[in-house]
Amino acid sequence: MKVFEAIEGRRSVRKYKDKDVEDEKIAKILKAATWAPSWANTQCWRFIVVRDEGIKKDLADALSKGNPATDAFLDAPVVIVGCAKREVSGYKGGEAVTEKGDWYMFDIGLAMQNLMLTAYSLSLGTVQTGSFEAQEAEKILDIPEEVSVVSMTPVGYPDREPNVPERKDLDEIVFENKYGK
Ligand SMILES: Cc1cc2nc3c(=O)[nH]c(=O)nc-3n(C[C@H](O)[C@H](O)[C@H](O)COP(=O)(O)O)c2cc1C
Repeated sequence: MKVFEAIEGRRSVRKYKDKDVEDEKIAKILKAATWAPSWANTQCWRFIVVRDEGIKKDLADALSKGNPATDAFLDAPVVIVGCAKREVSGYKGGEAVTEKGDWYMFDIGLAMQNLMLTAYSLSLGTVQTGSFEAQEAEKILDIPEEVSVVSMTPVGYPDREPNVPERKDLDEIVFENKYGK
């Protein structure tokens, strides 16, 4: 599959078939995540592959009330949790080197996008999920103090063709030389 075809075709999937996902496909999407760029190649990301039904249910309970991805956490056979070691990305000698501080959100975002695009190319669905009680998820998953849970996605075979949310036109968001021009 060509890159742009995957970028354009990937959608957030919130309905899944009752069908398991092959271990090799999970390994491939995780490998794709690790080929993302990261700050000085520091690779602050860590991933947890959750297949345990009880833990998936607990994670679904940690989502924000009414989160549209909730059923997906129960129906999909796998949930992948993207975590980050803090004070690694954007740091040198223990000090943040830019005014933006910790770049872990950025690095995890890139890795998750690689993961989701590769999942799509393997006929798998995903939905990047950010609206949840992170501290609750960290408790459920035994996350150590220096690590944060950033992002989660169910992974499974889509059960229906999702809607295509519109995108803004380029002339609304792209400027020439200076902002707003
Ligand atoms: C940082 C981030 C957090 C998100 N959190 C959630 C979420 O908690 N629940 C959910 O159902 N979708 C979530 N989404 C998915 C967006 O709603 C979705 O990407 C957007 O509507 C565009 O649809 P598309 O992914 O099909 O192109 C999140 C996406 C991003 C990038």
